[in-house]
Amino acid sequence: MTARPDAETTASAGARKADHLRIAAGPGVLHARGSGLEELRLRHRALPGRDLEDVALETSFAGATLAAPLLVSAMTGGTAEAGAVNGALAAAAAQHGVGLALGSGRALLDDPSLLETYRPAGAPRPPLVLANLGAVALQPDRAERLVELLDADGLFVHLNPVQEAVQPEGEPCFAGVLERIAATVQRLSPRPVLVKEVGFGMDPEDVGQLAAVGVSAVDVAGSGGTNWALVEGRRDGRAGAVAQAFADWGVPTAEALRGARAAAPGLPLVGSGGVGDGVAAAKALALGADVAGLARPLLVAAQDGRAGAALGTVVRQLRIAVWAAGAASAAQLGEEHLA
Ligand SMILES: Cc1cc2nc3c(=O)[nH]c(=O)nc-3n(C[C@H](O)[C@H](O)[C@H](O)COP(=O)(O)O)c2cc1C
Repeated sequence: MTARPDAETTASAGARKADHLRIAAGPGVLHARGSGLEELRLRHRALPGRDLEDVALETSFAGATLAAPLLVSAMTGGTAEAGAVNGALAAAAAQHGVGLALGSGRALLDDPSLLETYRPAGAPRPPLVLANLGAVALQPDRAERLVELLDADGLFVHLNPVQEAVQPEGEPCFAGVLERIAATVQRLSPRPVLVKEVGFGMDPEDVGQLAAVGVSAVDVAGSGGTNWALVEGRRDGRAGAVAQAFADWGVPTAEALRGARAAAPGLPLVGSGGVGDGVAAAKALALGADVAGLARPLLVAAQDGRAGAALGTVVRQLRIAVWAAGAASAAQLGEEHLA
């Protein structure tokens, strides 16, 4: 299913994005159960054996060097408010040297004049910028055009079957998605193609299939944070009746990471979904993620004018957690650092 590039669709997509930004930042949209990260504890070493500032956070990921193993997860684009949020998120990501995933570029493909709402002029460039497209709208040529329009370093494809199914105007059309991802990997090579969920996690079998078609990384985007069935349910009464049963649907982030690591041992992983602070990020790294991602917490901070400070706090928490767990570097964190 490709996008329908008529003006009415673009306008209603804009209204939907505005609703998403407002509702996702508000109450009642979190999974009924946690990410599983809150049940884990990192070891506490009273003798960390090194100075705090000697802990290394730098990480190579998706062809970029990040100052810390963190990613601002994909959120928005296409409206004036999205432009303000993206400007704040780009500035925060650049300030702290971490990656930035942009929101779905489907609207931009239909209307290239929306470029400023994704990449506001004058916003600094983070070390890694990823374009984003949903599986339903994915076609290799469109994906390449989007990456070029956004001057992005690569592409994040999002898999959101439950959201599409709950959303009244959604398109739950997932036949052939894996084949289109494979073709997109070929088309964009050597630029990285990463694949993520949107907060319901992934089964190890999905991760194995994605690894087999050559994706550069998988973001498990597990349950425990933002729940897109509940967001759609708050946006539309018809969705609300259906959504409630999915309040605790999905694979919690901790379980999804362990499953992904086992299914695809060499594949770079992002741990996201309910990662609220730098300690949770460190736990995700200990479970095998190469990078941890945050969406909603940084949206709320950006809307409050404190995205840079909030991200700085996460980086500081991560540094302290790596150090106090007894690791020399974020990259070294492993299951042996869990209590
Ligand atoms: C306002 C908002 C908009 C989002 N839009 C997208 C999107 O366009 N593409 C995408 O891949 N994920 C999107 N997501 C999902 C996030 O990238 C992330 O996977 C999910 O919110 C779980 O992370 P969290 O618990 O830290 O919020 C969005 C999330 C939020 C909060």
